[in-house]
Amino acid sequence: QGEDVLAGLSHISVNTAARNVNLYPFPSKAPNHVSEDPEEKLDSDAEYTQIQPYAGMPKEVLLLHSSKARYRVTREILFWLMVACTLALVALTVTVIALSPRCMNWWQVSPVYQVYLRSFSDSDGDGVGDLKGIQKQLDHFQYLNIKSVWVGPFYRSPMRDSGYDVEDFRAIDPLFGTMNDFEELLAKMHSVGLKLIMDFIPNHTSDRHRWFNLSRATDPHYKDYYVWSDCDGSSPRPNNWVSVFGRSAWTYDEVRGQCYLHQFLKEQPELNFRNPHVRKEMTDIIHFWLAKGVDGFRMGAVKHLLEAAHLRDEPQVDPNKAPVSWDLYHDYTISQLGLHDLLRDWRAEMEAYSREPGKYRFMVTESYDYEEVDKTMMYYGTSLVKESDFPFNFYLLDLPQNTSGLWVQHLVQLWMDNMPKGQWANWLVGNHDKPRIASSAGQTYIRVINMLLLTLPGTPTTYYGEEIGMENVNSASRDPQRSPMQWSGDMNAGFNNKTNVTWLPVHPDYRSINVEVQNSFNAVQLWRNILIELCGYKYTH
Ligand code: NOJ
Repeated sequence: QGEDVLAGLSHISVNTAARNVNLYPFPSKAPNHVSEDPEEKLDSDAEYTQIQPYAGMPKEVLLLHSSKARYRVTREILFWLMVACTLALVALTVTVIALSPRCMNWWQVSPVYQVYLRSFSDSDGDGVGDLKGIQKQLDHFQYLNIKSVWVGPFYRSPMRDSGYDVEDFRAIDPLFGTMNDFEELLAKMHSVGLKLIMDFIPNHTSDRHRWFNLSRATDPHYKDYYVWSDCDGSSPRPNNWVSVFGRSAWTYDEVRGQCYLHQFLKEQPELNFRNPHVRKEMTDIIHFWLAKGVDGFRMGAVKHLLEAAHLRDEPQVDPNKAPVSWDLYHDYTISQLGLHDLLRDWRAEMEAYSREPGKYRFMVTESYDYEEVDKTMMYYGTSLVKESDFPFNFYLLDLPQNTSGLWVQHLVQLWMDNMPKGQWANWLVGNHDKPRIASSAGQTYIRVINMLLLTLPGTPTTYYGEEIGMENVNSASRDPQRSPMQWSGDMNAGFNNKTNVTWLPVHPDYRSINVEVQNSFNAVQLWRNILIELCGYKYTH
């Protein structure tokens, strides 16, 4: 058998030789044969150059051919072509990304609906709205196609300023429910695709807050948590600063024997943000609520966060006026240097919770700067350092004074022309601190103003009840625009159905102006239709 194989092989070699095919394509001498004779070596080099390239050639032959001009040039052309193609692809990708519209975030694709908690819906019949009440009304947001809801303060509070005087930043006031109710509400809202924005009130606490009690008792850790200055029980006060609500911004505290500063009510002492412990406390509180899953904060009264440490008198607008009616330039009590650093630090903390898809935490700031629009725009931050997603645009609050088209155009242009490039606009026409449109501009303007609000480019914020054109109630206090939501023509307008009591009177027009009546036609329909239309247009353009 072995002989048969050998015979077969010799047959092949004979045949191959006959066809003059060189199976081993080198010259007759093997390539590793190194000749001693120089002449013989020249011959062999010449022979090498004769070899044609072939598949599976050894390295030596490959090298021999690769340096030939036709291979080298082709190779170089192909190499540079590849580099050029890669660069072109990268450039194309970058251009496409830069030119394509950015993916919109949740706070850009829906109006924000402001719920004034005391007045929205009362589940337990005590006359005051509560967290469970909101949960009962989630269908209303769904119906209106609203996705973001700002719920007013629900912290534990003595309620001297409707919850904006906080006694404990980590507790729910029993008037509104329990922490469990809050968590349930948040979970329910998330399960139906709604986001919850809450108030963050960093400027002051209630005078019942534990920190204030420790501070007035000069506890070493807490004594500088607030802004204190020497004064005696009578005049003169440390300086001429006045509170937003009028009168001196200083109140004498008998326990400590000094005056403390308050830019709002005397029951709302100002926190001292020059104290690093205070900054840390407030940052921890932000973490507390973010960890619970809240989707954003409305940062209140931010321009008041810092005051000039020198405590000099503020200049009087008219130095000839008597001190009782003076008006001051608030050079030392608002918009002080360092304020934006505080907000940017909080923003940075919020970023850490914003990384998961769909979990972006939103920040809006409240600062009334009137015609000083450049001050407002600073809250957007810079192209490098992020601050609020937008500062509330309060300029349309001036609308009712002059409802002419030109004035509207002026107010809209004011924002659009001053907004930093690449930022997102926003609009509002009312809130819990301002009269309702129906009362300030008149019933006839409700629809057109709502339409304007919803169609301007950017995020609209609407105050509860504006969708049905609710009016102010008679109230001597700051509350005319805070009356119970008018859900139906039933007892107490459907705000509650267990008692006759409501914390503010229901507006007498509730039989005709209520959600139930208007859901099928009228203002609410208009709202719903515009929002459904807009989802298809405004938010994708
Ligand atoms: C802003 C709130 O909107 C307002 O109602 C409150 O009185 C002040 N902050 C002071 O807390």
